[in-house]
This record gives sequence, structure tokens and C-alpha cells, in this order.
Amino acid sequence: MALIIDGNAISKQIRDGIKCEIEGLRHKFGRGPGLAVILVGDNPASQLYVGRKSKACSEVGIYSEVKKFPGEISESVLIDLIEELNRDKTIDGILVQLPLPEHINEHRIMEAISPQKDVDGLNPVNIGNLVLNCATLVPCTAAGIIELIQRSVKEIKGKHSVIIGRSNIVGKPTALMLLHHHSTVTICHSRTKNLNEIAKQADILVAALGRPKFITRDMVKEGVIAIDVGINRVDGKLWGDFDFEGVKEVASAITPVPGGVGPMTVAMLLKNTLLAYKSNYKIFP
Ligand code: GUN
Repeated sequence: MALIIDGNAISKQIRDGIKCEIEGLRHKFGRGPGLAVILVGDNPASQLYVGRKSKACSEVGIYSEVKKFPGEISESVLIDLIEELNRDKTIDGILVQLPLPEHINEHRIMEAISPQKDVDGLNPVNIGNLVLNCATLVPCTAAGIIELIQRSVKEIKGKHSVIIGRSNIVGKPTALMLLHHHSTVTICHSRTKNLNEIAKQADILVAALGRPKFITRDMVKEGVIAIDVGINRVDGKLWGDFDFEGVKEVASAITPVPGGVGPMTVAMLLKNTLLAYKSNYKIFP
């Protein structure tokens, strides 16, 4: 039977550590970290995630403000707002919740965020630093996946990681981070021809394709570490990309949905906001 990796518990440990550190720093510098979250449109999932992020901020002592805009906002108005936040001395981190409406160019928005305040790690400068393995601010879900693996099963070095999904926000940064931990990495996607064959070779299998219960027991190797990034709502219920009940019978470890990767994304956002604040005061990791 697999170890069920408890993302809620690991996230709580990290958040407690962050809270403690912020208390000390607030005393020293006279203010705590500040985060601005920009939410465009009325996507219910985005509203839920943004609500969770700002609640998590207030629990650890990070000041946060959510700036909500209708879906019709123009790209240039959004960029003006980001530039204003880039200059705001009380704001250490800026996050633009994704996805954005189609008329807004996501790349131009990510480019507008100051790399020092880019707590999502999606500005091209930070992505470049990630490629070079010298990034401070790295994409939150990818960072959360690495933490989960390290804290529960430890050794990444030498393992074959297969990532299903090539998004800028999850698949690509996760692949790079696993590579930097000396894993052998394969990325699969919708055009991959022999997906089942490749998935079955994985020691670490990260599923980020957004298809409920897609990865079944027969597609994985005995002893696999299964990391489920899928959040699929079907008839009001949440399902991951793994068929959890089947895969847990053969895996050595598996993350549940909910309660696996999701809470880690939030913990890593808090960690990045604290890192951005500390670099403002010339405290580097
Ligand atoms: N939408 C889904 N996940 C994320 C995330 O980690 N960051 C942002 N900005 N948007 C998201």
C-alpha cells in the first residue's frame, strides 16, 4: 500500500515556519511582507483560489490586497496597474491569477511584473534564471511538488521522472527543477505517441494534464511515486488525473486530490512573498 503524501500537513509545517520568521522580521523592519493579487473576470475556480491565497496570507502575517477587475479590462490598463504596484514600497509580491481572458496577452502581463516582485516565478527573467538553476523565485506548484517529494520520499537523484503536461506554469518548471535535482526527465504531452509505454518507465510520475482518472493502475510501474496536479470538477466532485484507488495499490507514494499538491502551491506562494520581502532588505537565501 502506498504512502499517502499529506500535502495539508506538509503545507502547515511550512506555513508555521513562515509565520514565525515573519514575526521576527516585522519586529526588526517595522512592517511585514505585502502581496497584491490581481483577479480578472469571474472564473469561479480562480475566485476560490484567490480567496485561499489571501486567507493564507493573513494567517502568517502577510498583508494582502486583492484587486478585482471585470473581464473586459484592457491589457494596457492592467499593465499600468502592474507598473504602479512595481513602484509601491509596501508591496513585495505581485500575482496575476491565471487564466486571463483571451484578449489579454499573458506573456506581456508576466513581462510587466518586476522580476523582484514576481512571486509566481513566471516573468521571463525568472524563467531564464530557472533554466540556469540560479532562480530565487520559482513557479509555486513546481516548487511545491519538489518539497512534497523531498519531504516524503527523499531521494530524487538518478530517478526517472515522467511529467505529463508541458504548461509554462507546471510541466516545464517541474521538469527543470527535477532535472536540477539530478533526475532523468521525460516530458509527455497531447501529441506523445507512446504515452503508456513512457509512463510505465517512471519512478516519479507527475500528472498535470487535467483529465479525470486518466492515469490508471496498468499505466504505472510498481513502486512509482505518483504526483497528481489534476483538479478536475465532475458533477460537483473533485478528481485528480490519477485513478487514485487503483494506482495507490501499486504506488510507493501518491498525493491525494484534494489535499496533495494544491495546499503546497499556496505554501510556496507565501514562501516566495517572504523571499521577495527579504531581498528588499538585502537578506538573501
Ligand atoms: N492559476 C492556477 N494556478 C495558478 C498559479 O499558481 N498562479 C497563478 N498566477 N495562477 C494560477
